[in-house]
Amino acid sequence: MTRVAARRKHKVFASWYPGRAEAMDRAGFAEYRRRLLSGLTGHVLELGAGSGLNFAHYPAEVERVVAVEPEPTLRARAESTASELAAARAMSASTSAATSAATSSGGPQIEVVDAVAEDLSAYAGKFDAAVCSLVLCSVPDQRAALEQLATVLRPGGQIRLLEHVGAPGGVLAPVQRALDATIWPWIGAGCHCSRDVTSAVVLAGLKVTDAESFRFPAGRLTLPTSPHVLLTVVLPRRAQ
Ligand SMILES: C[S@@+](CC[C@H](N)C(=O)[O-])C[C@H]1O[C@@H](n2cnc3c(N)ncnc32)[C@H](O)[C@@H]1O
Repeated sequence: MTRVAARRKHKVFASWYPGRAEAMDRAGFAEYRRRLLSGLTGHVLELGAGSGLNFAHYPAEVERVVAVEPEPTLRARAESTASELAAARAMSASTSAATSAATSSGGPQIEVVDAVAEDLSAYAGKFDAAVCSLVLCSVPDQRAALEQLATVLRPGGQIRLLEHVGAPGGVLAPVQRALDATIWPWIGAGCHCSRDVTSAVVLAGLKVTDAESFRFPAGRLTLPTSPHVLLTVVLPRRAQ
């Protein structure tokens, strides 16, 4: 199969995106990040980690996160986020020990790596879960990315997706398509606002086991990226 290579450097996007994503988190999106990762355990591969805004939301039962980020400026931000979180957790653990507190803040060991969705062969079969948030909108080929994500999982592993998607109809759907054909990918480092992630999951030969659709922001303001999905895909325990 011919694979389209992703462009890696997006300096302008990398300069404004982290601030906008942090503002979204403060406005309530952080709760969706928490739910994306809720219940995960063991070893997790996160694709397109950006500046690392999911890192603080991994449950204590996750031991290790390999965070893939191809964009160099965002990768450096993600590395800083991981170091700051590790330092804060070490400090909190030493305070707990000094005061004999029964609880520990826990959290995974996070390693940020340079790789792309199109080739995750170095990680094949090693993970209990694979995660992406707001990434499938930007990859050159959603189906190929999902197929690659499935290869990193152990049997019975799961993929968790938090993505903005195309509107199911109404006025927004043609507006999204027009934006995707013109300025949107240019503004958003390859982002598309009209993609159908659920269909891409099916085309990749995977099965959605849990799905929720929601709008963010939830109020009256509608953005081209307002429709979202939170999806879980669970692989069979044995090859079928
Ligand atoms: C909108 S940002 C989302 C960042 C982060 N996941 C979040 O939730 O804030 C899209 C991310 O996908 C990454 N990305 C784009 N194309 C990619 C590819 N082909 N492989 C891996 N990551 C990719 C970008 O570098 C960027 O970090």
